[in-house]
Amino acid sequence: MTDQFEWTGQVGNAWAEEWQRTDRSFTPVTERLLEVARAHAFTRVMDIGCGAGELSVALAADTPSARVTGVDVSTDLLGVARVRASKLGNLRFALGDAAAWTAGEGERPDLLVSRHGVMFFDDPVAAFAHIAGQAMPGANLVFSCFRERGENGWVRELASALPPGDGPKPDPHAPGPFAFGDRERVEGILSEAGWQEIGFEPIDYSMVVGKGEDAVDEALSYFLRIGPAARAIASLDGSQRGEALARLRGVLEAHHRGDAVSLPAACWIVTARSPR
Ligand SMILES: C[S@@+](CC[C@H](N)C(=O)[O-])C[C@H]1O[C@@H](n2cnc3c(N)ncnc32)[C@H](O)[C@@H]1O
Repeated sequence: MTDQFEWTGQVGNAWAEEWQRTDRSFTPVTERLLEVARAHAFTRVMDIGCGAGELSVALAADTPSARVTGVDVSTDLLGVARVRASKLGNLRFALGDAAAWTAGEGERPDLLVSRHGVMFFDDPVAAFAHIAGQAMPGANLVFSCFRERGENGWVRELASALPPGDGPKPDPHAPGPFAFGDRERVEGILSEAGWQEIGFEPIDYSMVVGKGEDAVDEALSYFLRIGPAARAIASLDGSQRGEALARLRGVLEAHHRGDAVSLPAACWIVTARSPR
């Protein structure tokens, strides 16, 4: 599980250092999210869990008349986002919990976006109800989230390199990257929180994790910094660690085509509207 408190520390720090590779890994998701978001007319945007700010920057850059606010709990990630946004006068960032964020007078968003930033709330119904209350009536919500672990080939591939866990199975609904994998659960959360016209679009894509001459080395170093394998491998020692690293390299080599290492990934693009 990764909750919002982990994002304020080590996890946020690793993501802040790896933002370029992370943006690259999300490319097909970002393109589709932006296409869906741009199909709506908007004047004020909230980017929930904006991280290093790729969505916020893209929307602020191509719609100078709109005001964009990125909200995130990680100081490190907002530090990167602020540098990227330094030339954009219509983009600002707010440090804090999106579940408690309040829009200023006349600042209620009519478009709310998020790339994988909404799965970490302790109480997602309360969070989405609060966010709906801050939005304009009839505001559009567009976010991405991973589908379930079993549908994400990259998770299976990484797991095959690790020693089998002997602890209890993780709660699939605990805050973390896969908490919104179950479509029915997400539909229930959003409708209980008052959101309407809820839609789901599945996206299956190749997640590029290494590229160029040293694509396998790059992918290996990425997974040692970010995601479920990083934590599992860091907890191993001695020969177990060496064996896991060798198996992980083997997995990445098996997915090396041309100049890239890519693994299969699956997410939802979820859309909804706040109550009118
Ligand atoms: C998987 S990352 C995605 C970051 C960014 N949207 C991107 O696509 O690169 C999840 C983000 O959600 C943020 N986050 C987690 N819980 C949050 C909360 N309660 N309020 C605001 N941001 C939160 C994290 O700090 C992190 O930046």
